[in-house]
Amino acid sequence: MENTKCWRLPDEAATQALGEALAQGVVPGLKIFLAGDLGAGKTTLSRALIRALGHAGPVKSPTYALVEVYVISSLYLYHFDFYRFESPEEFLDAGFGEHFNETSVCLVEWPERAAECLPAPDLRLFLHHTADGGRELEAVADTERGQACLNATISAGGVAACCVAPAPR
Ligand SMILES: Nc1ncnc2c1ncn2[C@@H]1O[C@H](COP(=O)(O)OP(=O)(O)O)[C@@H](O)[C@H]1O
Ligand SMILES: [Mg+2]
Repeated sequence: MENTKCWRLPDEAATQALGEALAQGVVPGLKIFLAGDLGAGKTTLSRALIRALGHAGPVKSPTYALVEVYVISSLYLYHFDFYRFESPEEFLDAGFGEHFNETSVCLVEWPERAAECLPAPDLRLFLHHTADGGRELEAVADTERGQACLNATISAGGVAACCVAPAPR
């Protein structure tokens, strides 16, 4: 199986559908990084994923709080956003490292702002704006757990039809 996959996401509903498909591959210990400009759809995708896991309440952007925690059945899911970090050491100062363990799930927006202080991801998602006003998502699996999540996402159906070859860069 390839470790890289790319999707065209023509509208918000497509981003949400991909978040729901990703939820099918969520297992304890999974770490997903979401990179992309402001407004690229990182929170939209995370929100759909968290809802698909069974969280019925609101899903706020963690931009101001830095982290929002969801307890879904017995699963702890941490949704981080490090946009406001001025240096990667803030990750260590905040004591966030302890949340990256084998029993919790971590979604991380703006991982580059915590850089080398962050544990390694299983799956990296890159969201881009496209010229037609939609989005494109590239997913790169770095571990077996990430690959299993990517495979589950692909077989979740619906969004599989949107798969295209990764854009040249
Ligand atoms: N595939 C898409 N095509 C067009 N608009 C989208 C798409 N996915 C999400 N959006 C819109 O773009 C915005 C993304 O905002 P948000 O998810 O908060 O981005 P981020 O967290 O990356 O800053 C929302 O207004 C959402 O409705
Ligand atoms: Mg966001």
